[in-house]
Amino acid sequence: MNPLYSFQTAGRIVAGINSLKQLHAHLSIFGEIKNILLVSTPFFKEHSFNDMITEQLKTLGISYDILAEVEPEPTISHIEDLYGKMAGGEYDILIGLGGGSVLDATKLLSVMSTNDMSLRSMVGTDKIKQKGVPVILIPTTSGTGSEVTPNAIVTLPDEELKEGVVSRYLLPELVILDPILTLSLPPSITAATGMDAFTHSFESFISNKANPISDMFALQSMRLISRSIIEAYENGQNIIARHDMLIGSTYGGMALTSAGTAAVHALAYPLGGKFHIPHGEANSMLLPHVTRFNLDHIEERMAIIAKEIGVIKDGYSGSQDAANQLIEQIENWTLKLNIPQDLKAFGVKREDISDLAIAASKVTRLLNNNPKTLSIEDMENIYKKLLN
Ligand SMILES: NC(=O)c1ccc[n+]([C@@H]2O[C@H](COP(=O)([O-])OP(=O)(O)OC[C@H]3O[C@@H](n4cnc5c(N)ncnc54)[C@H](O)[C@@H]3O)[C@@H](O)[C@H]2O)c1
Ligand SMILES: [Fe+2]
Repeated sequence: MNPLYSFQTAGRIVAGINSLKQLHAHLSIFGEIKNILLVSTPFFKEHSFNDMITEQLKTLGISYDILAEVEPEPTISHIEDLYGKMAGGEYDILIGLGGGSVLDATKLLSVMSTNDMSLRSMVGTDKIKQKGVPVILIPTTSGTGSEVTPNAIVTLPDEELKEGVVSRYLLPELVILDPILTLSLPPSITAATGMDAFTHSFESFISNKANPISDMFALQSMRLISRSIIEAYENGQNIIARHDMLIGSTYGGMALTSAGTAAVHALAYPLGGKFHIPHGEANSMLLPHVTRFNLDHIEERMAIIAKEIGVIKDGYSGSQDAANQLIEQIENWTLKLNIPQDLKAFGVKREDISDLAIAASKVTRLLNNNPKTLSIEDMENIYKKLLN
């Protein structure tokens, strides 16, 4: 275990069914507000959730603009375009309403507004010099945990890779966690984002930087997600399951803020950057294979997870058995969730594997957290397992 560890999170979290209706009651923490920018996607522009926010702003006499143009898995140039569209507006607060792509875009627009530096030069850890415009984040997927992480992920098209901007200035002042907002998530996005959240907690728990604080959030996150992911997928209107998934994903974000994700995420980044495989699906495909690779280093930790989430069948014979039963459970979920298991479906060919492995090997920020060192050949072998 790491001898020193730390934890930081959003300034205030307001959670529960219909909590979005209480947004107005929490705006006083920002002092006087004249003008707000609401950042989202075309999907939310005409949506009742958008109105639920704007009606509250109107009642308070706060003026606002709407920038409902964020594309999924944003590239650097897309965020720069968005920044160009907001330039000239003097905003006291930015509100991000959407999935991880919107939340990350909002966090970046906030710091781009106050730092005289290019977005490209913000990529990396602690590059941002000063805090941004205050931010409110309202997630509508249960996956990334971005609402509580100091990270924003951008695609660098030239390098066909996703990279992280990491800075404490990316943490928001206020988060609203309302599971009602996730009821409209289609099953495939419920599945992919839910497995992303599970992977955050799983990797945080086996990370070299795992610690008592991250363990607490990671284990509770895995309990919540494992009991509700199939129900949320099969019966999307079940608000209890949606609530479990949303809190589970926020806890996943809290766990990874303290402990970091590891090789699954490192190998997933080039699949997103080069082949545009949705982040959650890439993680979900890689998780069983990377876990088998890591197994001899993480058997005891796996047995703890297996016990905590109740996957061990009667008469199991020790931690190795428990760990294997956990891998089987993860594979069963991906089958039930209809998550693809073959990279071919995304246009990946055998001759791409070497480049993918080289790109993944550059994600040292996450590979350093992995309990077992991966050579380029190890990474190639893992990708090969996903090309049947
Ligand atoms: N900052 C972090 O800590 C962090 C962590 C993990 C991943 N990420 C990044 O987040 C992005 C992925 O975010 P995501 O998985 O939440 O997906 P997303 O934000 O890309 O959204 C996926 C799709 O779902 C739609 N959608 C969102 N909410 C909906 C709802 N309630 N009903 C119907 N449709 C809805 C969106 O319009 C979009 O088409 C990636 O860029 C990934 O790299 C960030
Ligand atoms: Fe992730």
